[in-house]
Amino acid sequence: MKSSSLSIAGAWLCLAFNHALAAEPHHAAHHAPATDTRSVLTLTPAERAMILEEMRLFLAGVQTMTGALAKPDMAAVAQAARDMGQKMVHEVPPALRAKLPQEFRQQGFSVHRDFDQIALDADSLQDVSHSLNQLSATLQKCVSCHATYQIQTPFLDDSH
Ligand code: HEC
Repeated sequence: MKSSSLSIAGAWLCLAFNHALAAEPHHAAHHAPATDTRSVLTLTPAERAMILEEMRLFLAGVQTMTGALAKPDMAAVAQAARDMGQKMVHEVPPALRAKLPQEFRQQGFSVHRDFDQIALDADSLQDVSHSLNQLSATLQKCVSCHATYQIQTPFLDDSH
């Protein structure tokens, strides 16, 4: 008796949990399945390293920006944002460029353009709240691209 009521409770919990997952996409994301269903960009290790290096520059830049916003030091906010603007875009080797979907490149450019605008506004408006709103909107683009794409490097997948 006891064990059957436990398993009913277990089944109920399981249903409730599945229901929560179905109802809340954000919750589901925290319990992401082991299979990565994002679109695959198949790159060479060097191409992957190039992209990931730019990504780490983004993360470092965002960290610098939030620190400067907290002070606030709007000149430093503008500088950090400008460093992530169009000037950060370096020559993409044609072979890599050809492998990146147009949407991917557009999202990337859009993020760089945003940071140039954030830099201009930080200088001219000196408004922490405005800059934070812009940063949040831009970070949403980071989130969205990461939700869409993954990088795979054939032949190296077993080595990590
Ligand atoms: C155009 C698409 C795109 C945009 C926009 C983008 N990323 Fe990425 N990022 C990627 C991809 C693809 C990866 C690799 C993900 C994977 O393979 O799982 C990545 C990886 C990363 C990593 C991991 C780096 C490492 O060394 O492993 C960091 C950190 C990161 N991104 C930060 C950011 C931040 C911060 C932003 C926004 C300011 C951003 N990214 C915008 C596509 C993007």
